[in-house]
Amino acid sequence: MEPIQSLRGTKDVLADEINYWHFIEKKAKDLFSIANYTEIRTPILENSSLFERGIGSSTDIINKEIYSFIDKGSRNVALRPEGTASIARSFIENKLFSQKIPQKLWYSGPMFRYERPQSGRQRQFNQLGVEVLGSVNPLIDADVIQLALNLLKELGITNCGREVNSLGTLEERVKYKSDLIAYLQPYEKELDIDSQKRLYNNPLRILDTKNLKTKDILNEAPKLSNFFGIESQTYFEELCDALNSLHIGYTVNEQLVRGLDYYNHTAFEIKSSSLGAQDTLCGGGRYDELISQLGGPRTPAIGWAMGIERLLLLVKDSISLPSQYLDFYIVSENKSTKLKALQLLQIFRNHNFKVEIDWSYSKFSKQFKRASQNNAIGCIIIGERELQLNSFSVKWLSSKEQDSFQMSEIEKLIQKLDYYKSSYLKIIDNIDTQTLNKKF
Ligand code: HAM
Repeated sequence: MEPIQSLRGTKDVLADEINYWHFIEKKAKDLFSIANYTEIRTPILENSSLFERGIGSSTDIINKEIYSFIDKGSRNVALRPEGTASIARSFIENKLFSQKIPQKLWYSGPMFRYERPQSGRQRQFNQLGVEVLGSVNPLIDADVIQLALNLLKELGITNCGREVNSLGTLEERVKYKSDLIAYLQPYEKELDIDSQKRLYNNPLRILDTKNLKTKDILNEAPKLSNFFGIESQTYFEELCDALNSLHIGYTVNEQLVRGLDYYNHTAFEIKSSSLGAQDTLCGGGRYDELISQLGGPRTPAIGWAMGIERLLLLVKDSISLPSQYLDFYIVSENKSTKLKALQLLQIFRNHNFKVEIDWSYSKFSKQFKRASQNNAIGCIIIGERELQLNSFSVKWLSSKEQDSFQMSEIEKLIQKLDYYKSSYLKIIDNIDTQTLNKKF
């Protein structure tokens, strides 16, 4: 029978990666907590109409990528392609607007988009994100961008490109769109196929094309910023001033439009050149109309999301995390000594030691070998002699020294373990434990 494989664009996270996931999640959680954000968890499955209305029916996410289906109760449901629309829905449904404002929320979890998989792009991927709902102020936008950069710094990811743009207001964009279409129409046949398709339903997306010929045509195209009224102009200037005062380097990219329709004013992306084609680590912006468009009270908001798999590609390169190790591996020889080992295991676990028993009846030499394979710091030996003396022996695998302890001498054992742990960790991963402790 053919073994069943995972779906294309989905991935198992195995032992060699999970420590990196925990590392990223812990750094994010600690940082969000210091910045006074609280976690929100929304369902993975939502009504399809939430995303159609929230993200926009002319976007690629809705047209090509959304995983939607009719469920057994004939409802049109979808696996969430992103977190913002769900949070806006939750904000309205749970009347979070009547609680403290702004609501500062963070989230993480799986998202789904039917895209062509490649390095850094999956069909099931994970995002870490924040949303600040209820306030509008360019200084908040700068603070939210700073938070993203702080997280990247905590993860050892520096040297990122930061691009910002203003998308103005909805009215300004409507006027701009018709000018942009009028400019592009004469070149229609020369545009790349994707841009031709976008010309009438989502012309702004043509601006971030990677096609060189289309880019050339766009050189002389009207600029969105030329359509800004005083409010949009001032908002963007104040954002830039705030970024400057925080010493955040950035470039203004007037072609940055993002792939979701809900943005206005601030839009930004953080990119890493080490990532290849899928180089955007973080994307976000302001969405002051989304909550009212979804039927809630008018609530300005801003947020961002990062792709965890993309963070992982960089973190794995820049940080080495210690391998899994055991405090002790228990080696014993027959049924009665294994029974003693089982009792000892419980005592050790109660004292927070990480211990494994070798359940085989193979020779001690083989059991010692497995202790090393398990990265054990010490091997606890329970033979017939130890059983009679109600004691156990410990062979420290780094020094090969051996000690004997009475069952009651746990404190003495802890001291010895601490001593050997530091030297042992250096050996198994060649890591300076002091820097390790500082990092975590
Ligand atoms: P987004 O730009 O669509 O924005 O996605 C944010 C990040 O998710 C991307 O920068 C990328 O790192 C990651 N990502 C997106 N698609 C994939 C994929 N197929 N595979 C791996 N990673 C991916 C949003 O989703 C908005 N909700 C962000 C936001 C929050 N705006 C305001 N608040």
